[in-house]
Amino acid sequence: MAKKIFITGATGFIGGRLAELLVERGEEVKTLVRPTSNFQRLSKLGLQIVLGDILEPDSFRKVLSSCEVLYHCAGLVAPWLPDKRLFYKVNADGTRNVLKLALDLNISKVVHTSSVAAIGQRVGEIGTEETQHRGYFFTTYEHSKYMGEQVAWEFYKNGLPVVVVNPSTVFGPADRNFGRLIDAFLKRRIPALLSPQGYRALVFVDDVATGHILAMEKGEVGQRYILSSANVTTRDFFSLLSRASGIATPKLVIPQWLAYTGLRSAELLLPVLGIRPPLSSEWVRGGGRGARFDGTRASRELGLVYTPLEEALSRTVSWYKARLREKEL
Ligand SMILES: NC(=O)c1ccc[n+]([C@@H]2O[C@H](COP(=O)([O-])OP(=O)(O)OC[C@H]3O[C@@H](n4cnc5c(N)ncnc54)[C@H](OP(=O)(O)O)[C@@H]3O)[C@@H](O)[C@H]2O)c1
Repeated sequence: MAKKIFITGATGFIGGRLAELLVERGEEVKTLVRPTSNFQRLSKLGLQIVLGDILEPDSFRKVLSSCEVLYHCAGLVAPWLPDKRLFYKVNADGTRNVLKLALDLNISKVVHTSSVAAIGQRVGEIGTEETQHRGYFFTTYEHSKYMGEQVAWEFYKNGLPVVVVNPSTVFGPADRNFGRLIDAFLKRRIPALLSPQGYRALVFVDDVATGHILAMEKGEVGQRYILSSANVTTRDFFSLLSRASGIATPKLVIPQWLAYTGLRSAELLLPVLGIRPPLSSEWVRGGGRGARFDGTRASRELGLVYTPLEEALSRTVSWYKARLREKEL
């Protein structure tokens, strides 16, 4: 018999696709949605929506007690925040609230959405599930995701059956973070490339959602699984986008120091004018060093089949183009 499933973060990019796949499989899904969330997409799926917040565990105690398994996908992903402490509040303290409740309520299995940002491989090293963390952090987000994963291991040691998945940079339709870059490219608003030789590890959102389901079905508790299909340089990534869209890759390259200095100034000036900087200088410093990950364990042990990168990018570009056309009408 199908298990009753609870998902946090289902109004988001990853949790939303996961909810869709689970509903397609005929599963009974309940979701936690903040009162401020846009849950139009979820409403169409016909699953149960409960208003609440992972920072207020009493708001979802009752609904979680009626479920058997939990996907904890809620998290804070943002290019820039006026108060960086919020990353820790949501990604570490929020995870503690959710997992504590799961332990109290004897939830039979939990999949926690961590990130490759929590792995901490050294510059030039290919991150794997076994990588020893380098011991320092490039961004607050990275640190908060590391702390969130440590919370998951702490609860695992206390008896919670938890499996961790670590997606790399996720792309696909309906993404409100990395998708802004693809959207900007299609609108020809990317004048120059940053770190064209730097690597980026990528994975399609459908594969991430499927990876979560496989981790729930077959993942060994106490283990982590990297979800990542390809390592490509920034230049190659834009060439692929260019091939999928017919839009030329920018020829100019912006030096790392210039982007960093510009964003440092923007972070000081723009908030005073009530404008959010497009990106934080931390992200530039972090992203600039490049990152590669090995996502083959999820294939070998969970049976995850990654969508070929070109096909996934082409489907993504088609979705963004269709959305642009709709807006123009
Ligand atoms: N996208 C990536 O490339 C990527 C890569 C690796 C790991 N991850 C991890 O995957 C998870 C999901 O990321 P995403 O890309 O799907 O981000 P997203 O689209 O921004 O979605 C985040 C989800 O978390 C919810 N949320 C945030 N704060 C919450 C709170 N206090 N209480 C309840 N729900 C809250 C959001 O609700 P609202 O709709 O109300 O904001 C939304 O449903 C995160 O943990 C992220 O760190 C993402």
